[in-house]
Amino acid sequence: MNFKDKNIGYALTGSFCTFKDTIEQIKKLVELKANVYPVFSFNSQNMDTKFGKAKDFMDEIESITGNKIIKTIEQAEPIGPKNYLDAFIIAPCTGNTLAKLNSGICDTPVLMACKAHIRNNKPVIIAVSTNDALGANMKNIGSMINKKNIYFVPFGQDDYIKKPKSIVAHFSEIPKTIYSALNGEQIQPIIKEYNNN
Ligand SMILES: Cc1cc2nc3c(=O)[nH]c(=O)nc-3n(C[C@H](O)[C@H](O)[C@H](O)COP(=O)(O)O)c2cc1C
Repeated sequence: MNFKDKNIGYALTGSFCTFKDTIEQIKKLVELKANVYPVFSFNSQNMDTKFGKAKDFMDEIESITGNKIIKTIEQAEPIGPKNYLDAFIIAPCTGNTLAKLNSGICDTPVLMACKAHIRNNKPVIIAVSTNDALGANMKNIGSMINKKNIYFVPFGQDDYIKKPKSIVAHFSEIPKTIYSALNGEQIQPIIKEYNNN
């Protein structure tokens, strides 16, 4: 798997518990020669949580990718007219961002970047991470999975005993999912169990 000459938009929304895992995948993509353009939602830029400080995450990602984080809607908009991305991934994708995406709402840098990229008819990859995936957001997963140019990172129930409606993508499958999406294919199986259940 080689991503030489591929430009990948990589968006983080506010599922903070998965930031460490997603940063590992950003490192892998860079090792595989991808040029990664990071994008943060307003909430992921501004919330310090028990999982770490927003600024520390942003500094780390800028240093791994060598690219400045896209932090505003204005900075994200040129992705459409300049058409410089080959693929765009939202990892993690919160229930909030997924619901907005499915409803055509565009009020964060991540949603603007995604909308701009979709206009160019190229792949969008979603790594969902939300406690209500099998609840309020089930309809949004169902609707998005059925759309052209949308691919899902395989996901499973991360803790069906304590969080019976929660689903989290298998972040380690991100490079493979992007690689297949660039060739127009959804990797399978999409539903994959977690071993810790
Ligand atoms: C510590 C913490 C952890 C969170 N984890 C998640 C999560 O795993 N999944 C999710 O959908 N929302 C999670 N949220 C809620 C989102 O951050 C919230 O819905 C926010 O509005 C998301 O905005 P965004 O999608 O624009 O980033 C969490 C919030 C906090 C404070």
